Amino acid sequence: MYIGVDYYPEQWPKERWTEDVRLMKELGVNVVRLAEFGWQLMEPEEGVYDFSLYDEAIELLTKNGIQVVLGTPTATPPAWMIEKYPEILPVDQNGTVISFGARRHYTVNSEVYRDFSAKIVEKMAKRYGQHESIIGWQTDNEYGHEKSDRSYGNVDQKAFQTWLKEKYQTLDTLNEAWGTVFWSQTYTAWTQIPVPRKVFQEHNPSLLLDFDRFCADAYTSYNKLQTDLLRKHIRSEQWITHNFVYTGQAINQWDMAKDLDFISFDNYPVWGGLPEPIAPAAIAHQHDLCRSSKDGKGFWVMEELSGAQGWSSIGYLPRPGHIKLWTYQAIARGAEAIVYFRWRAARFGTEEFCHGVLDHDGKPKRKYREVKEVIDSLSVFGDDWIASEYKADVAVYYDVENAWAWGIQPQSNAFDYKHEFLRFYSPAHRMNALTDIVTKESNLDGYKVLVVPVYFLTDPLVNEKITRFAKDGGTVILSYRAGVKEQNNFVVEDTLPGALRELAGVEINEYESLQLGQNNSVEGVQGSVSGVNSVASIWCDLVEPTTAEVLAEYRSCFYEKTAAITKNKFGKGTVYYVGTALENEIMDALYADIFKDAGVTIMSSSGEEVEAVTRTAEDGSVFLSVVNHSTENKGSLTLPEGTWVDPVSEEVVKGELSLEPLAAHVFRSR
Ligand code: GAL
Repeated sequence: MYIGVDYYPEQWPKERWTEDVRLMKELGVNVVRLAEFGWQLMEPEEGVYDFSLYDEAIELLTKNGIQVVLGTPTATPPAWMIEKYPEILPVDQNGTVISFGARRHYTVNSEVYRDFSAKIVEKMAKRYGQHESIIGWQTDNEYGHEKSDRSYGNVDQKAFQTWLKEKYQTLDTLNEAWGTVFWSQTYTAWTQIPVPRKVFQEHNPSLLLDFDRFCADAYTSYNKLQTDLLRKHIRSEQWITHNFVYTGQAINQWDMAKDLDFISFDNYPVWGGLPEPIAPAAIAHQHDLCRSSKDGKGFWVMEELSGAQGWSSIGYLPRPGHIKLWTYQAIARGAEAIVYFRWRAARFGTEEFCHGVLDHDGKPKRKYREVKEVIDSLSVFGDDWIASEYKADVAVYYDVENAWAWGIQPQSNAFDYKHEFLRFYSPAHRMNALTDIVTKESNLDGYKVLVVPVYFLTDPLVNEKITRFAKDGGTVILSYRAGVKEQNNFVVEDTLPGALRELAGVEINEYESLQLGQNNSVEGVQGSVSGVNSVASIWCDLVEPTTAEVLAEYRSCFYEKTAAITKNKFGKGTVYYVGTALENEIMDALYADIFKDAGVTIMSSSGEEVEAVTRTAEDGSVFLSVVNHSTENKGSLTLPEGTWVDPVSEEVVKGELSLEPLAAHVFRSR
């Protein structure tokens, strides 16, 4: 397995490099990522290339048996380029040009920028594409991050108009698809169509959704420009990846992944200014997103946090044990390689306070020792753990376009897409049921439960898939605001939940959006939720059963006694409808019953801080990883039947496993 560090030799005097590489070797590092911000060094002036610094660094690493992932440097166009070709710069919604001075200051719609990118990528590919110790490539760095996903300049507007022409062919079709008769927006020439810059209040939601699609497509095609050029020159064993972040930008990781050999992810469970790490399920679901982006394929964590991070504001100091815990969690959920960010904290630049395995003084201390312990422990597994099979019973539906549609119309100031997605994902995480995130292209065979959170923007193919899944005996959990929108962001003409109405056995004739601080309440009246009370927030669908039975009702307002949760038999399957945002206790009670009926494998643990994942090795033995995310409380896990051995300590465990705060173990069944 590859374990490495993100290394920036250009930020250190050459005299230090030998000591760095010596320490890396001592640590057990076998790969480093290099060069992803090194454009100015590689092309100090237009058309003049100089690879000597990276040549030297690569040679030193090669001599020491460390392999290399090379980043293309296009996240940081140099100052000379911007001075000469300022049209490369992106423009924000207010029409303000984003200045040179940080990074990601380019629009992918600039032909000038595409040309420069193509040239540097091709030069690098020619120079390093056959190099024996370069194992692969990372294109750019975190596409769309730091608000660089949408640009609203003139070149973007032109490109948007061209994209629309290709999509709609005629203006009549576009006008119809966007409902431009509303507010006299009918376009009579393509050149009239705006990019959604600042207006009084809000743009047409159909235009906004198409703009997000366009921005994502533009990035996908920009990435393809790079991958095509690389593939022309690199040896067949070198692979190409990109380090994604999943923060709801107008980037379609699934589309882009088609042009990559596998995807990579930058894992920062805590960052500048955050007082503590994000919830365990929030970290876990990102790893699930990574696997889902390339059809279940394993991924690399190209940046795994190793020290406190931040720019002008520094975040939480990861506690002793966090490095191991987050590494084990990532591997359990599909990471096949871990690269720690960063080798050493820089003494200058915006990221002076992004701490690494080493800090500013360059001395190996606590974090270095922790990484060493992790690498030593992982060496015991060889590649068996990462090669084992992760097989989930529960599928959770996600679609980037749905996330964008929610971004355009959150409908309540209390609504946050990720938060609501996690509300429906987390009960499975708390019960240690294995989850996959599935998208419109996924095959649903083999799953027992399909959770479909806040499925607002529908797709006829997905409606069909959900229906078939239930008909054939699967269990579906739908949530509030299911079935509301068509692909062009119009509201469906049907009574809600639209195409899912028969399936759910309910009708929604009225609903209420609740704002921050405003609540209703719900009480369970049947089945496992019976007698369980919950605050209901964000949204209340007034659920009217047609064929469904009522599991919970609202307890206040004029719709007191109206259904809030229902259960319907449909075909050979069962469909639940949860009409509001509910608290954990009632969600857990509901899911417990659903999982039991559907035969989902769960593992009982002391609480949401404990996360256990099983994977099956080729010889039929099972790897069970278990971590306790709590920094303060002990946790416990009821181990699945059988005898479990910790291959690192050779300890044998059975029955109830007690876990220290921040414990991280991997057991193998015997
Ligand atoms: C990542 C980025 C790195 C570095 C890091 C700081 O998002 O890819 O280059 O900025 O954050 O924590």
